[in-house]
Amino acid sequence: MALVIHEDTAAPLEAASIQRRQPVLAILTIEDDLQLFRGNRGNFSDIIAMGTEFGFLVYVITAKQLKLRRKLLDGFTYNPDTDSWEQQKFPSPDLIYNRIPLREDELQPEVRRKLAACHRHPRIQIFNPSFFNKWSLFKWLRQSRTTSPYIPATRRLLTVSGLGKMMLKHKYLYLKPVSGKAGKGIMTIQLQPEKALPYLLKIQGDRGSTTYNCGSIGKLWSRIVKESSGERYIAQQGIQLAAFNERSFDLRTLVQKNRRGQWDISGIGARVAGSYSITTHVPRGGSIEDPEKLLVSVFGQDEARKLLVKARNAALIIARQIERGSGRRLAEMSMDLGVDILGNVWFFEANSKPMKFDEPDIRRRSLERIFHYSQYLLKQKGL
Ligand SMILES: Nc1ncnc2c1ncn2[C@@H]1O[C@H](COP(=O)(O)OP(=O)(O)O)[C@@H](O)[C@H]1O
Ligand SMILES: [Mg+2]
Repeated sequence: MALVIHEDTAAPLEAASIQRRQPVLAILTIEDDLQLFRGNRGNFSDIIAMGTEFGFLVYVITAKQLKLRRKLLDGFTYNPDTDSWEQQKFPSPDLIYNRIPLREDELQPEVRRKLAACHRHPRIQIFNPSFFNKWSLFKWLRQSRTTSPYIPATRRLLTVSGLGKMMLKHKYLYLKPVSGKAGKGIMTIQLQPEKALPYLLKIQGDRGSTTYNCGSIGKLWSRIVKESSGERYIAQQGIQLAAFNERSFDLRTLVQKNRRGQWDISGIGARVAGSYSITTHVPRGGSIEDPEKLLVSVFGQDEARKLLVKARNAALIIARQIERGSGRRLAEMSMDLGVDILGNVWFFEANSKPMKFDEPDIRRRSLERIFHYSQYLLKQKGL
């Protein structure tokens, strides 16, 4: 947009004050005794590089280094020439991108206090307020008529009678830690009433899964209690996922706010389960695939296309409802969606700190969108 300057006013001064200062974004993480700070360094250096393309100054800051009253802060930047991270002074950020990598770290009292102060801060905008927990997600999504059809029946796993009630309705269940990730601690139960030992319990381990056959629900329950080692769990209706070469798969969707501040799909990838695995995580033998190819192989071309549209729409509706439920402004999330053998779409979980997507086009868009949304936030603030 052209700036109209009248000859008779103090034009140069005005022009200078109108000129915008370089926007500053800090990637927030947590300090580490051995390696300065925690988090995925490759991800952080990619974000810094993309920010530079967008004209931003981007640096990494730890919760300890973040002093909201100071104008100059210590932080880290990546030097590609020496392939090392260097500490420098940086101006206080306009935006904070929360990438604290672990739930436990985010729950430390000093970190919580800092995050709360960022939320209250009149100038600084923070996005990715905190991790989600699986139980809250299901509570929020059940509340709305638009999202409830995508939600498998879910309850907290508290008592053996609760589990028994659930097994009356569903012969196949997933048990998942409320604060779990990467498949850790996940178990499945299959009820096979015709068998002498009717309860088949599978426990996801680091190398494949272990199976137990239990004769009674009481025996099943004691095994579950032993295996869940004090973690809080949910029990969830198991979905018969569509499969490719007898391996089930699910859709990993990345949803981010775009340059207009609206939820948008950045990409959909697919993960195929490893053999003998009850989850599709790549570190557990899962593999990355093209979602269209998988869906076409199961449902044919036309239906596959419709299913992808359905999955995209579901992801957008779900993201909006999660944001409403959380009561916080969110900027991005990844979502695990399942497609069952009948072509229904199901929601398994959303993660507010999405991991790097390996698909190059999704990866690039995910980095660009961080800055598109940042630009939107700055514009909203009139900066
Ligand atoms: N109710 C379910 N029915 C069928 N498969 C499920 C169910 N819940 C989870 N899964 C499978 O297990 C994977 C991991 O579950 P998820 O809820 O994403 O836990 P995590 O946080 O450990 O990733 C999913 O991506 C999906 O493949
Ligand atoms: Mg998951």
